[in-house]
Amino acid sequence: MTENNPGSSAESPFGDLHPYRTWTETNTRIPDKGRSEEDIATELAQIAAQEDQKWVSGQVSGTMYHGGKEHYDFLNRIFSLFSYVNLIQRDLCPSGTKFEAEITAMVANMLHGESARAANPEDQVCGTVTSGGSESIYNAIYVYRERARALKGITEPEMLAPTSIHPAFNKAAHYLGVRLIQVPLTPEYQVDVEIMQQNITGNTIALAGSAGSYPHGVVDPIDRLSDLALTHDLGLHVDGCLGGFILPWIEKIGYDILPFDFRNPGVTSMSCDTHKYGYALKGTSVVMYRNPKLRRYQYFATTDWPGGLYASPTVQGSRSGGLTAATWAAMLGMGQEGYMSAARAIMNTADAIRAGIATIPEIRIMGKTTFLISMTSEVVDIYLVNDYLSMKGWRMNGCQNPAGFHFCVTLSNTLPGVAEQFIEDLRAGVGFAKNPPYPQAKSGALYGLAGSIEGQEFLKEGIFSLLDETYTP
Ligand SMILES: Cc1ncc(COP(=O)(O)O)c(C=O)c1O
Repeated sequence: MTENNPGSSAESPFGDLHPYRTWTETNTRIPDKGRSEEDIATELAQIAAQEDQKWVSGQVSGTMYHGGKEHYDFLNRIFSLFSYVNLIQRDLCPSGTKFEAEITAMVANMLHGESARAANPEDQVCGTVTSGGSESIYNAIYVYRERARALKGITEPEMLAPTSIHPAFNKAAHYLGVRLIQVPLTPEYQVDVEIMQQNITGNTIALAGSAGSYPHGVVDPIDRLSDLALTHDLGLHVDGCLGGFILPWIEKIGYDILPFDFRNPGVTSMSCDTHKYGYALKGTSVVMYRNPKLRRYQYFATTDWPGGLYASPTVQGSRSGGLTAATWAAMLGMGQEGYMSAARAIMNTADAIRAGIATIPEIRIMGKTTFLISMTSEVVDIYLVNDYLSMKGWRMNGCQNPAGFHFCVTLSNTLPGVAEQFIEDLRAGVGFAKNPPYPQAKSGALYGLAGSIEGQEFLKEGIFSLLDETYTP
């Protein structure tokens, strides 16, 4: 049976976690009798329509990378054709081989795999499809750990990465027993290569940089990291989860982008998210390696299990063929022309936003930016500005050290008038922050806590409680 959860929904710093308690039934056991499909579909369509309202106006940073209903309808159609097949059973679905081999080949081509081959005929850029950026990163760190153990006997592995690297690195390093040493940034918000060099030890297994970084959208000096990696015989992972699928097209339409991919001889792996600027459905990414020898370290097989032979190329076991098919279809449907015209639209919007910010002296853009614009202020409390933007329906991504927020411009933000409205509201937000109706910015209070060790522990505890709450019906 079902029960109606009494009381109002809990408010969290991230909004109401349980908005549906008030008008849908809360299920805590499988109903004795199944509900009608019609009834279920009607209720969920209502929920989805409500949630879509939050981003369709183009006011959300990142996350809705495409935003086109027809595009999503097309991908969902493709997804439904293969949603129930398991990619691990290739005898039943050899289509999975076509999709995965072609996706990784197309990404290798996009990231200049041919340069690796030209520099060394033994190199051939290759990869695997994963469930998302975090899994791509996990797989790469696992590869470097295993390789360093096998070839160098390293048992206490260390990895060097900028402080701006995505937390997926901290998480993977935590899971894998790798010590992640985080290197500070230069005033340009790029990793400080000298400090990285000083921290290389006999236990270092790999270096990492971003293209571009999540907080600032800045591309690290991959050419210099490449030299460093080659000099010290280390792996170099470029995290292109965010930028890997848009920077190549931004470069192609004529912007000045320093090569960040396999054109650098020291780049040994890259993560590149198809479910972000690849415009695929959520749930896929690609991890690419300079050669198949490196990729081999990622594979797992067991030959003496009573259940038979078992092998899997990535962390996941069973995987839906639908997501891979939809990713393949997204790439084919977009084509190079589609990716370039999307990049053009995004850069036009980002350029308009940058030009607008240049007329607001209180706001400073952090670093050399392209599709993602990160803002701070030395004059006003930037979190108060963000509070104001939230009140106006915008959803930016808060940053810290230094205080700021970023606008990751996606296709859904390229609707007419969005850039102009953003600048108007940003300017008004500065006015709001100069004369705020309350003293402490809402997001500022949380980031304030993160300024001390005790505060961080307190904050972590609060976040874990919040995660508990997300599993409370
Ligand atoms: C630069 C960067 N790396 C890694 C990730 C992690 O990707 P995912 O959330 O798909 O696991 C993200 C996600 O935003 C990212 O922006």
